[in-house]
Amino acid sequence: MSTRRVFILGGANTSFLGKGSPDFIWKNHPDFGKRENPTLEEQLKAAVDLCFAATGIDPTLIQRGYVGNFVGELFSRQGHLGAALAGSHPALAMKPMTRTEGACASGGLAMLCGVDAIRAGSDVVLVAGVEVQSNESARTGADYLARAAHYARQRGIDDFTFPALFGRRTKHYRAAYGVSEESIGRAAVKAYANANKNPLAHMRARKMDLDTAAASSEKNPTFLQNAEYAAFIKMSDCSQVSDGGSAMVLVSEAGLKKLGCSVQDCIEIVGTGHATASLYEDSDPTVLSTTAHAVQQGYAAAGIGSKDVHIAEVHDCFTVTELMMYEAMDLCPLGGGGELLRDGVTEIDGRVPVNTGGGLVGFGHPVGATGVKQAVEIWRQMKGKAGGYQVPRVPQVGVTVNMGGDDRTTVVGVYRNVG
Ligand code: CAA
Repeated sequence: MSTRRVFILGGANTSFLGKGSPDFIWKNHPDFGKRENPTLEEQLKAAVDLCFAATGIDPTLIQRGYVGNFVGELFSRQGHLGAALAGSHPALAMKPMTRTEGACASGGLAMLCGVDAIRAGSDVVLVAGVEVQSNESARTGADYLARAAHYARQRGIDDFTFPALFGRRTKHYRAAYGVSEESIGRAAVKAYANANKNPLAHMRARKMDLDTAAASSEKNPTFLQNAEYAAFIKMSDCSQVSDGGSAMVLVSEAGLKKLGCSVQDCIEIVGTGHATASLYEDSDPTVLSTTAHAVQQGYAAAGIGSKDVHIAEVHDCFTVTELMMYEAMDLCPLGGGGELLRDGVTEIDGRVPVNTGGGLVGFGHPVGATGVKQAVEIWRQMKGKAGGYQVPRVPQVGVTVNMGGDDRTTVVGVYRNVG
């Protein structure tokens, strides 16, 4: 095993856009018909440009790159995104660039490839992620996203396959642990409240109170056709169908010297986890067992335990998933996620702030970008760059959990503040 250290020098996220965002060009927007929302190519270029601006590096020193994307072919009729990354800045031409795909963990996989590249001898690596989904209706998009499930077997559960799969989890989780709808609804309230402080968040301008999040209503309807699961997922329980990109620069110690940068600017990736379960089988719906496995790998590699975690970004693709993520991370016992949330432990000013920028429900979920965005968010918090949602205590140990499909692929990162 290589002993080369891997650092995140810095990175950036684009503004995450989609229905509900004031910047999204949609029927009532004053610019409707005058200009279009950014394309996949524009989102990727914007993320790379913002990343180079945030780090101030000489981009010609990038040696290779990885870009996470799930289904560019379906939403944007564009594949071959390694070459798109090479085309996103003149300095990247002729460098080796590769796309990674692992459903909603595509961005996390891009980061893992970057870590492996540094450990194998590279010094300066670009890691990006991108997805554009808003050019299709939510219903058509749901069919595309259903490719992250076992399509032949699970597509028929509902037109909105993933909301239904997590409606199934919600039903079993609530029954197993006696958890109320209100307890789960608190995850949406936290996500929107955090997003309201984040100028890049998809839901920065939408409010969510507990009365709305705790029960279905005209304003917050259920929408599944599946009779068994319909009652268990409302609009407010869902992550957003977002467009966006994220990018960051990974460096070795030698890379820092080449770039003339200081280790004080960095956070170190001190552990990673990566677990994959069979696409063809379902597991216990009340636990995220693949995720728990990846978390334990990450903790072991970093030599930490759950008590050492100061801050986390978790994959709240649905509200119930956030509670189950706390449990998979061993922040609380099984079934205890609702209490942790209710007690404020995971609020911005809590003991272990989680998803401070709004998570997938509030910040948004441009699928291929999410895993990269999570790491960028930890870097921003550890370096005091999170602006209006900066946590009060500078975190020293952070964790990201990026999940693909229904707990089929999970990528975990463990980070330590340096300097
Ligand atoms: N009353 C009743 N029903 C209503 C309604 C109302 N007031 N408003 C909407 N609906 C129903 C309708 O049936 C509507 O569909 P049609 O218009 O096609 O009939 C459906 O709800 C969706 O409505 P909209 O298209 O207006 O909804 P929207 O664009 O605001 O989207 C959402 C809302 C459907 C919840 C959407 O945000 C969504 O699908 N979110 C989840 C995204 C997702 O699944 N991402 C992947 C997560 S899984 C993961 O991360 C792992 C992985 O690998 C994939």
